Parts: sequence; structure tokens; C-alpha cells
Amino acid sequence: MTLTQQEKQSLVDLANAQRKRAYAPYSNYPVGSSLRTKTGQIFTGVNVENAAYPQTMCAERVAIFKAVSEGEREFEVITVVTDNGGSPCGGCRQVMAEFGLDTIVLMADGTGRIVKEMTVRELLPEAFTPEHLENGRDVNR
Ligand code: THU
Repeated sequence: MTLTQQEKQSLVDLANAQRKRAYAPYSNYPVGSSLRTKTGQIFTGVNVENAAYPQTMCAERVAIFKAVSEGEREFEVITVVTDNGGSPCGGCRQVMAEFGLDTIVLMADGTGRIVKEMTVRELLPEAFTPEHLENGRDVNR
């Protein structure tokens, strides 16, 4: 399935709008994410921080976990929108890799401008994936 520029922009705009729901009182770095599954469903996420800092959860992982908990595991595209067009953290790249190296990742800034487009494979070369675990893929399938 190919993504049009308009589809990309509307996913970015959605994630950008979601940023107002970010709970980021410690970093003041609100992050929004949106993803489209291969079945065409859309999920969003924001970062949720915590007074015990390490318990913070990134926006991309919230979006992915929401999708997985609704039965979706195959993602076409995921966006991450921040004030300055920052890229996904290493932990989020690893979680993305779990569900497919060909997922497109769109990075955009607070004006909604797409600053970078890469695949998970490009963002996390030599990724450790379920295939590395014997029978790992068979669990729950
Ligand atoms: N953050 C994300 O939500 N996604 C990323 O990929 C990078 C970092 C959040 C975590 C924390 O709430 C804030 O941004 C600053 O690190």
C-alpha cells in the first residue's frame, strides 16, 4: 500500500494535535505519535511522564501498545511529532522493530513539517528481532 503525501500529512497533523494531551510536566517536551495499521486503523499516543522519571512512557510506545492491545500488530506507518522534529529514542526503535522493519517512520516538527522519513530498518540497523529467538514468532500465533 502506498501512502500519499496527503495521508502522511494528516497522520502528522493528528499526532501534532494530540500533543496537547501529552503529560510532560518534567521535560516540557510534548510528543505526539500516530500510526496506521495495515488494516487501515489509526491509533495515537502521547508521552506520559512520571515523578519517578524512569516510569515515563514515550508517545510512540503508547500508540503501538494501544494498537497491539486492540489486536493490531502490523503497522504501515508511524509518526513522531515534537517541537524540534526529534527522532525516536532507542527503546522505541526496538519496540517498532518487534512488529516489522519495513514500517515507515515520519518525523515532524511542531509546525507539522515532515523533517525526515525513514524505515525502522534504517533507524535500527542489525535489529534484534523475534526471529533471533528460537520459536519466538510462534508464541501466541
Ligand atoms: N519521548 C518520546 O515520547 N518519544 C521519543 O522517542 C523520545 C522521547 C519523550 C519522553 C519524555 O517524556 C520526553 O520525551 C523527554 O525525553
